[in-house]
Amino acid sequence: MTACEYIPGLENVPAAQSAISYVDGQKGILEYRGIAVEELAQKSTFLETAYLLIWGHLPTAEELNAFESDIRYHRRIKYRIRDMMKCFPESGHPMDALQTSAAALGLFYSRRALNDPQYIRQAVVRLLAKIPTMVAAFQLMRKGNDPIQPNDELDYSTNFLYMLTERVPDTIAARVFDVCLLLHAEHTINASTFSAMVTASTMTDPYAVVASAVGTLAGPLHGGANEEVMTMLAEIGTIENVRPYIEDCIANKKRIMGFGHRVYKVKDPRATILQQLAERLFEQMGHDHFYDIALEVEKVVEEKLGHRGIYANVDFYSGLVYGKLRIPTDLFTPIFAIARVAGWLAHWREQLDANRIFRPTQIYSGNHNQPYILIQDRVRGEE
Ligand code: SDX
Repeated sequence: MTACEYIPGLENVPAAQSAISYVDGQKGILEYRGIAVEELAQKSTFLETAYLLIWGHLPTAEELNAFESDIRYHRRIKYRIRDMMKCFPESGHPMDALQTSAAALGLFYSRRALNDPQYIRQAVVRLLAKIPTMVAAFQLMRKGNDPIQPNDELDYSTNFLYMLTERVPDTIAARVFDVCLLLHAEHTINASTFSAMVTASTMTDPYAVVASAVGTLAGPLHGGANEEVMTMLAEIGTIENVRPYIEDCIANKKRIMGFGHRVYKVKDPRATILQQLAERLFEQMGHDHFYDIALEVEKVVEEKLGHRGIYANVDFYSGLVYGKLRIPTDLFTPIFAIARVAGWLAHWREQLDANRIFRPTQIYSGNHNQPYILIQDRVRGEE
């Protein structure tokens, strides 16, 4: 087989055949298993959508109840994982804490019974159930407090916010948060999902698959952008400062966080919904000055870069929602990870159904027939 042309970043190169989600970057369309994300955001919940993504169909009431109660049952984490987390430095980034503890889950559960549907379902339930608990636990522990146990009376998103803030959130805040998770759940073959697939293709355990994906999501060009957006809005500080700030970024070829996308060349449909959610929260909980700055940033960036297909992406408005819910900025990406576990697991299952280990080739650009030079004859090279 002759090697194809090398495309940096595999831009537009299909790395999989998948029925899980569909994106049209020109029209700004996102569908999960063929259902428009706008409709799911209005009518569904994160867990129901996770079920849809992973098992390929909307659950019956009975299937959904069973799924939800299994997840409630598995929310607790082993005390040894909690004890391990107590050794993490408070200054550590929550994404590093999450990647470490996600991998540690694999120490406790039998590995690689990948041909057993029961094992697959248990792994799906355990990861969806325990990842939020681990994110909340590290948050409380890094403040010097004991983590609090999940409350089985509360639904998925309400329970997470309860474990994180030690207060039961109001229903609007919990619903807005749940829709945020739904919007972040899946997005075809993005970098972290691709990591998950490559790791899954070696037939390792699902905990290693998720740990690999968490590490990839952490980067500022991917899931880490939502945290950087808030830093940028704080740096800008006033509406008057938006235009000079953006012009300076463009003049110095600095990436404007929360904008641009490998696939979307129009506004990310998730950004539109997140903006509406932010406005709903502000009505309920009071206005946010950063929102005015964000609107001005979006206007100026669209004016300057819209013609190049650079528009707001999912990370631009999500931070404003989380900030209003009093979630610390460095937890924005772990929350992205909580949601994207659904997509990673959906692709993990799909990969197993027709697996072939990923092993691409390369275009060799080095030398041949080089001599071995004795150490005393060598000259200092570049590092
Ligand atoms: C996510 O893939 C997914 O689906 C990801 C995601 C998901 O749900 O999983 O949607 C989540 O990761 C959203 C993206 C979050 N990242 C950011 O907001 C960081 C800022 N964005 C950029 O770094 C960039 O837009 C990327 C990484 C998102 C996409 O980059 P591409 O497709 O590789 O585009 P590129 O880097 O080749 O840029 C093309 C040109 C460049 O200019 P030239 O060098 O050709 O002159 O566009 C410019 C870039 O400089 N450009 C930007 C820009 N994004 C691209 N210029 C300023 N600000 C930006 N944000």
